[in-house]
Amino acid sequence: MGGQVNIGVVGCGAISAQYFRTIARLPRLRLVAAADLDLDRAREAVRPYEGVEVMSVAELMADPRVDVVLNLTVPAAHAEIALQAIAAGKDVYCEKPLAATVAQAGEMLRAADAAGVRLGCAPDTVLGTGTQTARQAIDDGLIGRPIAATATMMTPGHERWHPNPDFYYVPGGGPLLDMGPYYITSLVTLLGPVRTVIGAANRTRSKRTIGSGPRQGEEIPVTVDTHVTGVLVHDSGALTTLVMSFDGAATKSPNIEVHGEKASLVVPDPNRFDGPVLMSKVGQDGWSDLPTSAGYIDAGRGVGLADFACTPAGTEPRTGGSLAFHVLEIMESLLASAHSGASVPITSTCARPRPVALLPSENT
Ligand SMILES: NC(=O)c1ccc[n+]([C@@H]2O[C@H](COP(=O)([O-])OP(=O)(O)OC[C@H]3O[C@@H](n4cnc5c(N)ncnc54)[C@H](O)[C@@H]3O)[C@@H](O)[C@H]2O)c1
Repeated sequence: MGGQVNIGVVGCGAISAQYFRTIARLPRLRLVAAADLDLDRAREAVRPYEGVEVMSVAELMADPRVDVVLNLTVPAAHAEIALQAIAAGKDVYCEKPLAATVAQAGEMLRAADAAGVRLGCAPDTVLGTGTQTARQAIDDGLIGRPIAATATMMTPGHERWHPNPDFYYVPGGGPLLDMGPYYITSLVTLLGPVRTVIGAANRTRSKRTIGSGPRQGEEIPVTVDTHVTGVLVHDSGALTTLVMSFDGAATKSPNIEVHGEKASLVVPDPNRFDGPVLMSKVGQDGWSDLPTSAGYIDAGRGVGLADFACTPAGTEPRTGGSLAFHVLEIMESLLASAHSGASVPITSTCARPRPVALLPSENT
């Protein structure tokens, strides 16, 4: 796509403000329309921005000015909204996970393919300087052949700060489907696709208590596993050990470490765009900071949307649907493995997304 791309957003909740700030500073994107089940919430969210029309979801889908539908609804609604956008002949970019289930995500991919439109998905944090600098180090051979990785996310749960945390505790949520997309997208970027998974999981409490906002003190039901651990066997033979938990107070483990034959890397938080990349060579005492060498500089949520919207026809976007589908299949299979006790082969695959050169995010 050349020129400016008009965005229509569906879902104006907690994360929308970050997108709107990024869209406002990226020259290729223009926010033209906003919809939400709660139209007052949409009006409030776009108030700081001129020229954004608030309308119903149906009106937004029918609006000929909208080139790309930005789907910031809750995971359970991702498929429904994406399928409406696809039926309207529009490209669609979803927040993560791509859908609440692999079955829904498969339907989205097939519908997009049949309609000749594109499907994209967060996270875009992995396009920032943190993950991209680590990826460049691996591609340049600094750590030798990658052997293993660890990925650790440990929090007591988002109900402490999110005013409407219900979606974190129903299918499509939980620590794995909520935070796993950052970690697993980063791991596929660093180490390539996954062929088999082995999982184990616990659900420690049947209820959670909302910790902030107008519903503070209200109990919400938990219908998903809240501590998930497992092993990802990458096509390359590298083995990732993963822990994703809403059941721990805190951790001092690095978010991600990658170990190669020659050196180990500490990779920054994949839920952030930047952060230091550390390397320790076999025999070295301590860790050295690697210079920032790749990725979008000063990026914010929405650079992946710009990257998607500006990817030329015929090229798979870095935040494309096949990567997000593969990540979702890995997560669903980890949970299936946890419940069956058997390893689960992954049927989908994807290319490692193209690397990002060191560039200001305004240049997406
Ligand atoms: N909150 C965060 O920090 C955060 C960070 C990164 C990604 N995300 C992802 O962003 C997405 C949204 O999260 P959030 O925290 O903004 O949720 P939220 O509940 O605060 O907002 C979601 C909004 O979508 C609207 N909505 C739901 N179903 C709809 C439908 N069918 N049609 C129109 N509007 C609908 C809701 O009314 C609500 O305003 C989720 O996929 C989440 O995983 C959230």
